[in-house]
Amino acid sequence: MDKLIIQGGSRLNGEIKISGSKNSGLPILAATLLADGPMHICNLPHLNDITTMLALLRCMGVDVTIDEKMCVEIDPTTIRDFEAPYELVKTMRASILVLGPLLARFGKADVSFPGGCAIGSRPVDIHLRGLEAMGAEIEVDGGYIRARAPKGLKGARFLMDKVTVGGTENLLMAAVLAEGTTWLENAAREPEIVDLAECLVAMGAKIEGIGTDQLEIQGVKQLHGCTYSVMPDRIETGTYLAAAAATGGRVKLRATRADILEAVLLKLEEAGAKITVGEDWIELDMEGRRPRAVSLRTAPYPAFPTDMQAQFTAMNAVSEGASAVVETIFENRLIQTHELNRMGAHIVLEGNTAMIEGVEKLKGAPVMASDLRASASLVIAGMVAEGETTVDRIYHIDRGYECIEEKLQMLGANIRRVPG
Ligand code: EPZ
Repeated sequence: MDKLIIQGGSRLNGEIKISGSKNSGLPILAATLLADGPMHICNLPHLNDITTMLALLRCMGVDVTIDEKMCVEIDPTTIRDFEAPYELVKTMRASILVLGPLLARFGKADVSFPGGCAIGSRPVDIHLRGLEAMGAEIEVDGGYIRARAPKGLKGARFLMDKVTVGGTENLLMAAVLAEGTTWLENAAREPEIVDLAECLVAMGAKIEGIGTDQLEIQGVKQLHGCTYSVMPDRIETGTYLAAAAATGGRVKLRATRADILEAVLLKLEEAGAKITVGEDWIELDMEGRRPRAVSLRTAPYPAFPTDMQAQFTAMNAVSEGASAVVETIFENRLIQTHELNRMGAHIVLEGNTAMIEGVEKLKGAPVMASDLRASASLVIAGMVAEGETTVDRIYHIDRGYECIEEKLQMLGANIRRVPG
């Protein structure tokens, strides 16, 4: 297993380009199943999860061609199998996103039931209830969700009793080909859902209320192929900003967007960062200062994202003052704090709250990544620690950060990958 070895102490300084968004690339790849002709998807990040989604499409018989710039041509008309097998779903829960499109377009889907993962139990009950409301017959058998809609799906009014990103995406993709109108209420409003909806509209879908929590979808008979470029990754952007803030550095991030990161940028300003933004770039300058501790609470968009909580927890660990970080989305997403404490942080967990007393310096140590964003927080901690930090199990980080060590090296960090 590969490891990252970090010598702490460098202030990040420089410019890098942000990659395409993993969490919008994944549903958009699933949405290609809805088209009646070839789709061209560009600006996909080169990440293990994206490769797994492409492998899933291929194993269903879909024709997938990738060029050297990670632009992918997908021809869903060659599909012959309607199953997402356990072997792929167990490596990536987002495989569940093929359920809605398969059911809407082909009337059948067998998708291995995704289990929980390190950050929580992560049920998919809302996805299933929404599809049932549209007329699907669903049973769970042998660890598989077996869904059928032989006469097609029917539009319905469905209130999601919890804000769910994947649930909203699955139901939106199902509704675009359902007969009649579907109203999705209490829908998630994450920018990745807007990106997916805009891709569906480019394919010929009729969707009102994009970017709000009330989506109205007028089903159409068929959707055509199109070319679509995935939006920039807001969480990758936020991670490099938090890393620069923690090290007292200055970074300019290109090919990104500030408008989808408001809650994160506000917290960075509260921490003392000077932020300047342009149409497709963000610059952060700490002017060599130590950050001030910032308290925060995660919640669905547009509030502070759970996917940025671990990185801010690492920054708070070395900030001036005390802070409280409350995680409201996933029940087990503060586990990285134990590893941070092994590096000298002062963090006490009280239920879903981390009470953090900032220390001046952390100390390098061997640490273990437990999930994607937790690994990013350990890398940030390693960069602000005295001495050497080894981050083990970095396959987690490779799921969500394209070329992380190259990008950090370009910003002046002393970090290298050691193949294991
Ligand atoms: C998406 O996961 C993201 N993944 C996650 O990104 C992100 O943390 C999460 O949204 C929240 O923003 C992708 O986009 C591929 P949810 P998802 O359904 O869709 C509960 C990362 O690091 N729930 O919005 O699985 C659920 O347990 C990650 O890139 C139900 O109870 O998240 C959770 O508590 C990991 N029943 C809450 O809702 C359901 O049917 C939000 O989950 C569905 C969800």
